Amino acid sequence: MSDLDGVKSVLITEAELSAAISGMGKILTEDYRGKKLLLVSVLKGAFIFMADLIREIQLPCEVDFLCVSSYKDGVASSGRVDFIKDITRDLSGYDVLIVEDILDTGLTLSEVVRHLSGKGARSVRICTLLDKPSGRRAEVFADYILFTVPDEFVIGYGLDCAELYRNLPYIGIYDKE
Ligand code: IMP
Ligand code: MG
Repeated sequence: MSDLDGVKSVLITEAELSAAISGMGKILTEDYRGKKLLLVSVLKGAFIFMADLIREIQLPCEVDFLCVSSYKDGVASSGRVDFIKDITRDLSGYDVLIVEDILDTGLTLSEVVRHLSGKGARSVRICTLLDKPSGRRAEVFADYILFTVPDEFVIGYGLDCAELYRNLPYIGIYDKE
């Protein structure tokens, strides 16, 4: 696959991603100072964002992962969320920050928030790299949003189309042709 195969256009460049993530790291460093921060990333799409974001947070923090699946394949929502890997620890005393790649229908995050809130955390907030408000089907509000994207299927920087394109260093619009 050549680099731009399947990419209609570049939506967010590497430089824009890195500047926004560095800015978000500073905000989170202030907001979570003195708290027991646990970042929980929703695999697989958020793995690159998580890796870059934690290095911009100048505080002691812990990391854990959840794996859910809502898109079995391709570009359409299956409408249900499966927990493939769960967090087994007790979350008492932790301020949990869910780190997500994209908030689209909101079906995934509403389930994840409900699920984690039942584990005794002091707080559960959401930090999403991308927000696609036009796709919303469940009522979910992200506390931290880095970019708002149009009603297009986006790929790259962790986000896939049928498991491909996660390694693109930028966010592109998928070319459906
Ligand atoms: P939800 O629709 O808000 O439940 O999003 C569930 C998951 O679908 C996200 O975490 C992404 O992994 C994936 N997803 C949603 N929209 C897109 C997109 O435009 N490109 C790639 N993946 C997407
Ligand atoms: Mg995905």
